[in-house]
Amino acid sequence: MIVALLNQKGGVGKTTLALNLAGEWSRRGKRVTLIDADPQGSALDWSEARSREGLPRLFGVVGLARDTLHREAPDLAQSADHVVIDGPPRVAGLMRSALLAADLVLIPVQPSPLDGWASAEMLALINEARIYRPQLTARFVLNRCGARTLIARDTAEALSDNDPPVLVQTVGQRVAFASAAQSGRLVSELDKDTPGAQEIAALVSEIDRLRIERSGS
Ligand SMILES: Nc1ncnc2c1ncn2[C@@H]1O[C@H](COP(=O)(O)OP(=O)(O)OP(=O)(O)O)[C@@H](O)[C@H]1O
Ligand SMILES: [Mg+2]
Repeated sequence: MIVALLNQKGGVGKTTLALNLAGEWSRRGKRVTLIDADPQGSALDWSEARSREGLPRLFGVVGLARDTLHREAPDLAQSADHVVIDGPPRVAGLMRSALLAADLVLIPVQPSPLDGWASAEMLALINEARIYRPQLTARFVLNRCGARTLIARDTAEALSDNDPPVLVQTVGQRVAFASAAQSGRLVSELDKDTPGAQEIAALVSEIDRLRIERSGS
């Protein structure tokens, strides 16, 4: 399966979730490749920080921030169980290319009703990609939820019959994500019982239950 973390908004957690989901799948014995499709190269930076720290390699990180991503990713998917794409900010050719490669698109969002979740432009791109890839599945993931996040009622209403639907498992606002990333670690490597690590594990289980198969392109 190829899963792409996409949102044209910056700082919503694309890279954080891409790394931690990839790490959790590899911890479960899957062969994982992470594609850094962001010209900023944050996932590559993480991977370099990791080798500087002398930590074991959990999954390969490949820099592929170019519009031919959709033609190159399927080859990588042949030698991996899961390919995770850390997407670029902004809607552009790169995002279109990532959408054409993906079987599952996860859209991290901060659960604020003021946050305007995903732009109409991005949702239109998902629908456009479905013309070529009718099996393409999309889900919102609520990230950086406050400790007391009662999802505001208008957001909750928007959630319940939202299209794309929202994953049940949310991820809290937890400093552990930032501190782990700085030293090339995953949140589960700080402490596997930390709430952040448990949320990532539960998120992976929920995604696995979607039973997304790689569809030919
Ligand atoms: N659940 C979380 N709890 C606390 N901090 C978080 C969480 N998710 C992300 N962050 C922090 O927020 C910042 C932005 O996250 P991240 O880099 O993953 O977002 P992004 O969507 O990849 O951003 P960009 O669009 O710039 O690539 C980082 O400092 C990260 O550590
Ligand atoms: Mg990023």
